[in-house]
Amino acid sequence: MHEPRRYELYGQAFQADAHATYAAMRERDPVLRQPGIDGRTPIWFLTRYEDVERMLTDEEAFSRDPNRAGVSLPLSPVEELLTDHMLNASGDRHRRLRTLVQQAFTPKRVREMRPFVQDLADRLLAAQAPNGRMDLIADYAFPLPIAVILELLGVPNADRDRFRTWSDSIVTPALTEAEQADARTKFEAFVAYLGDLFARRRHEPGNDLISALLTAESEGDRLSTPELYGTVVLLIVAGHETTVNLIANGLLALHREPAARTAFESAAAREDRDEVAAFVEESIRYDGPVSRALNRWAVRDVTVGGRTIRRGEIVIGVLAAANRDPERFDAPDALVPGRPEARAHLGFGKGIHYCLGAPLARLEGEIALASFVRALPGWRLDLPADGVPRYRPQPGFRSIAELDVRW
Ligand code: HEM
Repeated sequence: MHEPRRYELYGQAFQADAHATYAAMRERDPVLRQPGIDGRTPIWFLTRYEDVERMLTDEEAFSRDPNRAGVSLPLSPVEELLTDHMLNASGDRHRRLRTLVQQAFTPKRVREMRPFVQDLADRLLAAQAPNGRMDLIADYAFPLPIAVILELLGVPNADRDRFRTWSDSIVTPALTEAEQADARTKFEAFVAYLGDLFARRRHEPGNDLISALLTAESEGDRLSTPELYGTVVLLIVAGHETTVNLIANGLLALHREPAARTAFESAAAREDRDEVAAFVEESIRYDGPVSRALNRWAVRDVTVGGRTIRRGEIVIGVLAAANRDPERFDAPDALVPGRPEARAHLGFGKGIHYCLGAPLARLEGEIALASFVRALPGWRLDLPADGVPRYRPQPGFRSIAELDVRW
C-alpha cells in the first residue's frame, strides 16, 4: 500500500490549477478519501466519469438525504427552513417537490424571458460602453442573472444587492463561530424578507413564480410553508451563483482560446444561435460553473473502483474531473464547440437532480456572451501577472471574484 496522498482542494493556488489537480486525482486516486474543508470529516472524492455518473444516478446507493444513510445533521430552525427543498430530498418527496416547481417554472415561462434578458444585457452593456473598462463580475455577470431570477420570482429589483449578501452566506462555508453567527443573522434577515413577500403575494397575486408557487398543486397537494421558503431560496441561489460563473468562465475561455473566440464572435455577429449555443454548452464541459456536485451520503456499504465506501460516509462527485475524463471525451482538455459528445457533460448534473434551470441558464449564457462580444469589439482581459483571475472561496463552484475587461 502506498502512503495515501493528500490533495489541496480549497485555496486560490488550487483554483489556479484545478484541472491539473483533478487530472492527477483521476489518474492516481480516482476514489479518494481525505478530510474535507474542516480538516476532520472524511470525504470520498470521485473523479472518473463513470463513477461520478453512477453517484448521480444510483439513488439506491447514494442520496442527498442524510436520513436515508442514518445520519442526522444538527440544523437550527432557520437552517431547516432554508434547506427544505428538492435538492435535499429523495424518492417520492423529491418527485413531489420537483413536480410542483416544474408546474410553475414552465418552458414557456423560460422562453418568454428572452426579450427581458436581451434588453437587460443591452442596457447593462450600453451603460458600460463609454467607460472603456469594467469589472465583468460586478458590472455584468452578476447583475444580469440576479435581475432575471428576481424578475421571474417577482422580487423588486431595488432589493437585489441584499440578495447577493444573503445568497453568498448560503454558499460560503462558515467555519469559525463568528462566521456562523454572521451567517445566522443573514439567514434570519432573509427569512423575514421572504415572509413579508409571501404575505403580499398571497394577498395580491401577480404573474410571477412566487404567486404561481403559492397556488401550484399536484395530486391535491401544495407546498408547505417551509417548502416554499426552501424552494425560493434554492431558486435564488441556484439561479445566479451559477450563471454568474457561466458568463465569467465562458469569457475567460474565449480569452484563452483565440480560435474559439474568432469563431464565436463571427457566430454572434451573424446571430447564429446554434453556434452560440454550441460554444456555451462546451464551455460548461470545459470549465463549468459547478465543479463538484453537492455531497451525497452512502445509503449502504458500496464498492466503487475497488474501494468500500461505508454507509453514512460523505461522497462528492467532481463534475469538472468527469467532464475531462479521456475515457469519455476525446482530447478532453481542448475546447471544441460542437464536439459530438458535447451534451454528455455532467456540468448540470444527471439523474433526478438534473438542473431544473438548465434551459434558463443556457438562454442567459447565450444572450450574455453573444451580446457582450457584439457590443464591445476588441475587448481584452487585464489579468494578474500569472494570468489567473482571483477565485472566490466557494469549494464546489468555479467562481471568479473579479475580471477586469477593457476595450
Ligand atoms: C450555468 C448555470 C447552472 C449550472 C451549471 C447549474 C448546475 C446544476 C447542477 C450541477 C445541479 C445538480 C447538483 C447535484 O446533483 O448535486 C443543479 C440542480 C439544480 N439547479 Fe442548476 N445550474 C445552473 C443554473 C440554474 C438556474 C438558472 C436555476 C433556476 C432558476 C437552477 C436551478 C436548479 C435546481 C432547482 C436544481 C435542483 C434540482 C433537483 O434537485 O431536482 N440552476 N444545477
